Amino acid sequence: MDVIAGSASGLLGARLAVELNSKVVPVEIRRFPDGEAYVRVSEDLAGREVAVLQTTWPDPHLVEAVLLRDAVLSQRPRRAVLVVPYFAYARQDQRFKAGEALSSQAVGRAIAEGWDDFITVDVHEPAVLPQISPRARNISALPEIGRYLAGKRIDLVVSPDEGSQERVRPVAEAMGAAFDHLVKTRVDGERVEIAPKRLDARGKRVAIIDDIISTGGTIAAASKALKDAGAASVLAACTHGLFAGGAMKKLTAVVDELVSTDTVESAASRVSAAPAIARAL
Ligand code: R5P
Repeated sequence: MDVIAGSASGLLGARLAVELNSKVVPVEIRRFPDGEAYVRVSEDLAGREVAVLQTTWPDPHLVEAVLLRDAVLSQRPRRAVLVVPYFAYARQDQRFKAGEALSSQAVGRAIAEGWDDFITVDVHEPAVLPQISPRARNISALPEIGRYLAGKRIDLVVSPDEGSQERVRPVAEAMGAAFDHLVKTRVDGERVEIAPKRLDARGKRVAIIDDIISTGGTIAAASKALKDAGAASVLAACTHGLFAGGAMKKLTAVVDELVSTDTVESAASRVSAAPAIARAL
């Protein structure tokens, strides 16, 4: 299966091709002076099997995913799989107020139709996937994060809230580390409170694991709570490191190490999601 990567997922696409022992199909992607995107797949795909990778964040990459869909599927490949390493807009899974857009479905449907399979990685709410496509499935890069952390002599793994504990606990178990969760309340878009909680963190090397780091508010508050509880060191790891605004700078000042995967490329992308995606394909 050959790999086609949009401009949000070039590095991950190259790593996936190595994992699959296949090749990256060249794609021409450029912008017109007014900012609109141009996409052209430079090889004939008829009868071939391809995996098309594109993270849909920020918005220009979402438009590219829509154009890649047309460029690839119009050539009638034998099998075509869409891989969205970071599926943006998946956090809104309900209409909380009348008249609100249901972004997970609206965006999902704009990109998902027509593929033989649709794979995404650590989507915030897996329950949105069947509403988008019966072929949509979620895989996890947390085992790859766990493998990276295994060399770090971590004593305690925590999730920032109770809701994410079932996602994070298996990583702690695989590492042979203790597990606990924090109690998080969101104050607004950037501010988060982590409630005081009896936590056995004194003198321990702690890893906080979350699916997404956006503004960094969650990790900053969690790191403070852990250091107040006596943690010797705090490492923060996530699958999708968006680091909006000045989050990267803010977090490097309060955690001892910051780790994300390459579903969104950044200076913190120390772990690759490619092996997890290769297994799923
Ligand atoms: C929310 O439920 C997610 O799991 C993350 O905790 C959240 O998206 C992180 O956002 P921020 O970095 O802005 O606190």
